[in-house]
Amino acid sequence: MDLVRVNEVGLRDGLQNQPVMVTTEGKLALVQALITAGLKNIEVTSFVSPKAVPQMADAADLYKALPAKDRIVYSVLVPNLKGYERAVEVGVKSVTFVLAASDTMNRKNINMSLEQTKTACCEVIRQAGKDGVTSRTYISGLFLCPFEGPIPDERIIEMAEEMFQTGTNEVIIADPLGLANPTRVYQLFCSISRKLGLDRISAHFHDTRAMALANVWAALHVGVRKFDSSIGGLGGCPFAPQASGNLATEDLVLMLSQCAFETGIDVEGLRKAVKVAEGLVKRPLGGRMMPWLESRAELLPITY
Ligand code: COA
Ligand code: ZN
Repeated sequence: MDLVRVNEVGLRDGLQNQPVMVTTEGKLALVQALITAGLKNIEVTSFVSPKAVPQMADAADLYKALPAKDRIVYSVLVPNLKGYERAVEVGVKSVTFVLAASDTMNRKNINMSLEQTKTACCEVIRQAGKDGVTSRTYISGLFLCPFEGPIPDERIIEMAEEMFQTGTNEVIIADPLGLANPTRVYQLFCSISRKLGLDRISAHFHDTRAMALANVWAALHVGVRKFDSSIGGLGGCPFAPQASGNLATEDLVLMLSQCAFETGIDVEGLRKAVKVAEGLVKRPLGGRMMPWLESRAELLPITY
């Protein structure tokens, strides 16, 4: 069986712009439902300014209360050394940093230029290296910046290479606006594969234009075996225009299991986790296969 690692980002990328404030207990209930479904990699919160993202104000309390820290890889987003230090203080072992590929997107996201953001990212990567903390870097914004126009693939690859040279453990190629398409994804990942290999590369797609699964399929064909997704398709970035839902974890896992990839994740468990997430944000959620899954749930066990 071909193994694929699925990293759940609903609690961070998903919840960060939800208008309904979710309690720490609510987030813990969702974490438990995700673990029950078989998720082993969860990006759980961000140590950012609580004024900028009030939904993440409980980051430290949430992290301290997380279950099964010995067998679940929890990561947290940090925007600077201050966030890193807050995270490490409560025992975080894996951090992520978002480095957008254009100047304007960095300014909107963390109020710094591209060069300043790179410097902040490198500071975090180096400190994490010294502390034995895993660091993963999102290179975010493929192909097109909504403010600046086209982004050449070479820029993405150069940034990834620079972050690896600085010491990051993994680069996540991210499309927060859902502007990617399968042909461009295939070309980009072929170039990345030639230059950097794919062992330390993962992919993060949004489903804004219904192409997220097709993009996963293109990346799978090049050899990518690590993907982010969000339960129920929860998400979007508060600082990027039109960034709608992430690729839904249930859609990703169903496609992978139907196509003989092994994830260790149970789709029926994900259906239950979607229900927990709906209770938290007080609105219907679910990827494109959710209505089908709901109808099957009333009938026989799901077989693939
Ligand atoms: N955690 C908590 N507070 C932080 C912080 C962090 N990691 N980094 C900075 N702060 C605080 C500062 O102490 C300061 O507090 P004060 O107003 O009480 O003095 C305030 O935030 C502003 O700090 P400053 O350094 O002037 O930065 P800024 O106003 O330019 O904000 C960020 C920069 C990055 C801290 C802020 O924009 C942020 O957290 N953004 C969230 C980014 C995010 O989550 N993006 C989503 C990724 S898709
Ligand atoms: Zn995202």
